[in-house]
Amino acid sequence: MNTMEEDIQKILIDQETLKARVAELGKQISADYAGKEPLLVSVLRGSYIFMADLTRSIDCFCRVDFMAVSSYGAGTVSSGQVNIIKDLSDSIEGKDVIVVEDILDSGNTLSYLIQVLKARHPASIRLAALLDKPSRRTKPITADYVGFEVPDEFVVGYGLDYDELYRNLPYIGVLKPCVYEKN
Ligand code: IMP
Ligand code: MG
Repeated sequence: MNTMEEDIQKILIDQETLKARVAELGKQISADYAGKEPLLVSVLRGSYIFMADLTRSIDCFCRVDFMAVSSYGAGTVSSGQVNIIKDLSDSIEGKDVIVVEDILDSGNTLSYLIQVLKARHPASIRLAALLDKPSRRTKPITADYVGFEVPDEFVVGYGLDYDELYRNLPYIGVLKPCVYEKN
């Protein structure tokens, strides 16, 4: 049986770099929302670590809520079908919403989600994505806050999974293709 480390081809973004960039995003959001009370909506499960670090680097009043969607199953390519598995606990009507996602890939998940949330009449809605893989985009969607642009490789760690594993790696790493090619 392999260790997690042995399944990683290379470290793409190390802990220090993640920490510094997330702090910058928090600072930017704090400045942009000064005098407001944004509601940060974490899209589970991939964004849970980013959400925890990002909210702790925001120094204005803010609220958090959580939503779970699925579009992948155990594959590495989006199925294009999005299901809401857990909805928000509170209304977002009149709120300044920031959707917090782990990675913007094809854009399927987020374009669907943003459309659903916009229909609930928030005062504003913006998107914060830790990672952006623009080369794979099939939907016309961009994030307002992006941590890092990444190449077209399957990445795991810092909340991102493959088959629900590797979320607890403290860095973002490229998964060895042999790990998912055997499935
Ligand atoms: P999209 O709908 O194709 O934009 O995919 C969005 C979701 O797919 C993300 O929230 C992730 O959960 C997952 N995903 C996309 N690319 C990767 C990756 O490289 N590693 C891990 N998960 C990914
Ligand atoms: Mg995932």
